[in-house]
Amino acid sequence: MSTQSGSKGRSVSVLDLQEMKRRGERIAALTAYDYLFARLVDAAGTDLVLIGDSLAHVVQGLDSTLPVTLDEMIYHARAVRRGVQRALVVVDLPFLSYQVSREDALRNAGRVLKETGAAAVKLEGGAPEIAQTIGALARVGIPVMAHLGFTPQSVHALGGARVQGRDEGGRQRLLDEARAVQDAGAFSLVLELVPGALAAEVTAQLAIPTVGIGAGVGCDGQILVLHDMLGLNPGFQPRFLRRFAELGEQAAQGLGDYVRAVKAGEYPAAEHTFA
Ligand code: KIV
Repeated sequence: MSTQSGSKGRSVSVLDLQEMKRRGERIAALTAYDYLFARLVDAAGTDLVLIGDSLAHVVQGLDSTLPVTLDEMIYHARAVRRGVQRALVVVDLPFLSYQVSREDALRNAGRVLKETGAAAVKLEGGAPEIAQTIGALARVGIPVMAHLGFTPQSVHALGGARVQGRDEGGRQRLLDEARAVQDAGAFSLVLELVPGALAAEVTAQLAIPTVGIGAGVGCDGQILVLHDMLGLNPGFQPRFLRRFAELGEQAAQGLGDYVRAVKAGEYPAAEHTFA
């Protein structure tokens, strides 16, 4: 019944997400990169947990996702997978792990599933070669989440993190690529930085669920980068982002209190001391 081996209860499968679209139930997705946050994200009822290559920004302090390696993705995905009982676990294939040859894509996506216990991979783009790669993965039983609109692994070619599909050529290309990735066998599609009306149009045309980030209210679901929505990355405030907590402020307060308490000799106190 399930595509993952969660030890308690039934985990969300790719078919469940498609059924949610049919029922009109919205999909709540988040990223996670480590065990403890994965446990919290899963316990909140999140349907899909993505180990995103956005870990470049929020874990590694890099300014693009390009340097992230497959081994790094696998390391984080193994930790996240241990924390998740219910959600569908999806892992980003990093830059150049699937674009060079179909054999690379099969071997690397296979490694991700074998070594992490995740149920699916995500890859970026919809040009004919990428759609063919999605087809090759789907044929050997590897579920693929596609990703269109702003695709961070092409940040240099796209001239930065910009909204995509604003002109008629871009709009038509996005519609064509969305159809192509669905026809190739993708089980779902991330739409990043896309005008709301276009994301709604794509969503209406596809049978597979769309999951938006900076793509407005018309998608079948929503995904955010965990650290951004928890307020751990206070300098980052794009228009689409709502912060659901201010953990950065709380952490700064707690850390400052700790340093002051140690320096003042208030911590540790008698109650923290073994007899
Ligand atoms: O890497 C990532 O976190 C992503 C999401 C923003 C969709 O691709």
